[in-house]
Amino acid sequence: MGEGEPGLRDSFSSKFGVIAAAAGSAIGLGNIWRFPYVAGQNGGAVFLIIYLLFIAAIGIPVMMSEFIIGRSAQRNPVGAFKRIAPGKKWYFIGLLGVVSAFIILAFYTVVAGWTLEYLIQSVKWMATSGRLGFSQMDNAALKEFFTGHYQGFIDGKWRPILWFVVMMFFTGYIVISGVKNGIEKYAKILMPVLFLLLIILVVRSVTLEGAGEGLLFLFRPDFSQLVQAPVRIIIEALGQAFFSLSIGMGTLITYGSYIQKKENLAGTAVNVAAADTFIAVVAGMAIFPAVFAFGIDPGEGPELVYITLPAIFQRMPGGLIWAFMFFLLLCFAALTSTISVLEVIVAYFSEQLSMTRRNAAILAMVSVGFLGILCALSGKVFGIFNASPDLLLPLGGFFIVLFIGWFLPKDKSRQELSSGGTYRTKYYRLFIFLVKFVAPLAIAFLFILGVYSRLITLFPGAG
Ligand code: TRP
Repeated sequence: MGEGEPGLRDSFSSKFGVIAAAAGSAIGLGNIWRFPYVAGQNGGAVFLIIYLLFIAAIGIPVMMSEFIIGRSAQRNPVGAFKRIAPGKKWYFIGLLGVVSAFIILAFYTVVAGWTLEYLIQSVKWMATSGRLGFSQMDNAALKEFFTGHYQGFIDGKWRPILWFVVMMFFTGYIVISGVKNGIEKYAKILMPVLFLLLIILVVRSVTLEGAGEGLLFLFRPDFSQLVQAPVRIIIEALGQAFFSLSIGMGTLITYGSYIQKKENLAGTAVNVAAADTFIAVVAGMAIFPAVFAFGIDPGEGPELVYITLPAIFQRMPGGLIWAFMFFLLLCFAALTSTISVLEVIVAYFSEQLSMTRRNAAILAMVSVGFLGILCALSGKVFGIFNASPDLLLPLGGFFIVLFIGWFLPKDKSRQELSSGGTYRTKYYRLFIFLVKFVAPLAIAFLFILGVYSRLITLFPGAG
């Protein structure tokens, strides 16, 4: 319990529960859907190297900062800053986070809905093919089948909206159930299973004929790529690092506020970041060998995984059963992430605007619902929303590290990181150096560069 708390605040019950919930938030479509296609569009291995660098030097410090803020304040992102920095404007960071939560939840839930369509389709394939596996189809036919299928599905419009609504409903249901009995309970079961399935997929993918080229694409850097589009590659790597770790918008401030005082925050952050990064790399190892083996373009874009994965499943004995299980789990992984985004809005509504948890969730779902339907209907809105985390999250992260590095008294952050003296904090000076100088300077520089390069593409003449 936090100091002077009413004593009713819900919390995660165990160390494993904390890690499962935070890793559940971090691991999701960002790892399995977004990472492969963004890496594919940005040169593969070169992107991966820069991405890893950002995770270590910026991602983990931002994550620790969010945990410190949340756990010491025992509040939602807006209330947390109001409480630790009363009378100051820092709480705007929290408001920015709530706005980002609306945008992310809208497009993210749409993509999460696609998994349900694929789930249903794999059942249909099982029922209609009469046998397991499409081993007779050649590569070209496979690709066309799924591309055509995807286009047909998306252009149908009403089905994506239906699946979006279904996902939103599940998300709301779990959030209304609460932190321990909803969020933690589901994450603890779903995350380990996802992990196992992904490993099975990798084994299938790397043993495909021609798989080596995909592994080289992911692991052997071709620096000429970096020379061609350095700004885009670096900015998208930063955006992806923020997106994948769920940092920069207060999700982990909110979750931090549910972490008990006895848990080790730095250890949790490192574990979560390691698990998240591992899953992204493993997802890449499952996708790229198949991409090259089947002659798919790695720069395909958001539909990459939705073409590639079914193609792998077709080549596996019993593949349609695997497909079914995989899309089910992808849907669950997405769910443990959507609940963490919705939780930000719900914690804000319920604590700052004194609504009940249930009413807060319903209001949030309905308003995100409108945005989400826009995303499902318009590829353009979807594209803008999907690209906005690249700038919005680093912006939030910038202010969060400034707050910890320059505003919050050092004894406070150290106290929180050591859990009141229980854990050693030998890394503390390094941490402060990163949040005081490295992270803010790097983010500010890249943010300005990112805004500038976007303006140039919008108004080519002005450059
Ligand atoms: N990290 C999640 C993923 O990779 C998505 C997500 C959940 C998120 N909560 C977030 C992204 C908060 C940014 C901020 O799928």
